[in-house]
Amino acid sequence: MSHPYVPSPNVASIKESATIAVSQRAKALRAAGRSIIDLGAGEPDFDTPAFILEATKAALDAGATRYTAVEGILPLREAVAADATRRRAGREGAVTAGEVVVSNGSKQSLHNATFALFGPGDDVLLPVPSWVSYFEMVGLARANAVEVPGDPARGLKVTPALLEAHATPRTRGVMLNSPVNPTGAVYSAEELRAITDLAAARGWWVISDEIYGRITYGVPEAPSVLDVAARRDNLVVVNGVAKAYAMTGFRIGWSVAPRAVSQAMTALQSHTTSNAATESQYAALAALTRTAEADDAVQAMVREFAARREAARAILSAVPGLELVEPDGAFYLFFKAPRGDGTAFATRLLEDAGVAVVPGAAFGTPAWVRASYAAARADVEAGMRAIVRLWQV
Ligand SMILES: Cc1ncc(COP(=O)(O)O)c(C=O)c1O
Repeated sequence: MSHPYVPSPNVASIKESATIAVSQRAKALRAAGRSIIDLGAGEPDFDTPAFILEATKAALDAGATRYTAVEGILPLREAVAADATRRRAGREGAVTAGEVVVSNGSKQSLHNATFALFGPGDDVLLPVPSWVSYFEMVGLARANAVEVPGDPARGLKVTPALLEAHATPRTRGVMLNSPVNPTGAVYSAEELRAITDLAAARGWWVISDEIYGRITYGVPEAPSVLDVAARRDNLVVVNGVAKAYAMTGFRIGWSVAPRAVSQAMTALQSHTTSNAATESQYAALAALTRTAEADDAVQAMVREFAARREAARAILSAVPGLELVEPDGAFYLFFKAPRGDGTAFATRLLEDAGVAVVPGAAFGTPAWVRASYAAARADVEAGMRAIVRLWQV
């Protein structure tokens, strides 16, 4: 008889990610011989730029194979701090490397921040729809995730009034994400400023996930809370290399946070993973400091995303009255499903048309569906035609 496994209270409430459930079903259908178009992906389908690969190999050849400081190599933290200082435009002095912690992907930075800031009895405001992992991260910290439904008239974004309406005396913070996964909506500077003003007035922490910040259409980059907040002593700003530079596998993210918070996050990381992979830190350093080559690579990717986005919207325009969030950033289209049942529509798309998308239930909004255009343009177009075809059925 095998030893019985009873999940500990630490993990008993973790839910399987709905994103993974869809991709597993898609894989099973593929294994059974079906050809599947995957519009479920959350990562750029481009190669990592060659100059970054070369910098990684050069770092390995130069011996970047040992532990670094838990919080990351100094030149990388300095590069992140310099960018944050540029955004602060002289307000409250320069951001220093001591306010930066490099982690194994922005996901770990978000987890470290959530764990360091919140605990039992704390309420944390989560704009909905939002990325699946925020719910679980808040739960792992034994805090209480309070969903704040976004306003359909504003691309499902939240406003200070909506946040206030869900606040309690136990509210300790809010998790923001712009450009938003799953909707592609981008908060304007004014919208971010209004939210950071409210958080400062109410004594809340703001964790701002800006991982899609360089993938925008119309504006060169999305506003950061660092650009607009009157003060930064209640801000934890998270970013990384995964999406902008097609480096998801390198696992490098970082946070900019007050020194005491950064120290707590470093202490936590010192007992879980230690430093992020050393050669990956040098790869990220190349992405952040060789700016002319990096800008060219980002712009080429964004141009291709923009072309797919236009092609997809042109096809979807055949659906009368389609409710589609204005996709100003990231690489997702988020739309309300027929009869307001995103799970049923996603299932039909996969089973009847071989197109994998993610049901909005994964993000707290079951009436909606997310389709990614981080896929070959022909696949995006075929996927959109299938959506139009199945809409009427
Ligand atoms: C909103 C959001 N934040 C963070 C991440 C994690 O990125 P990383 O690869 O840097 O951990 C993702 C990845 O899908 C994401 O969509």
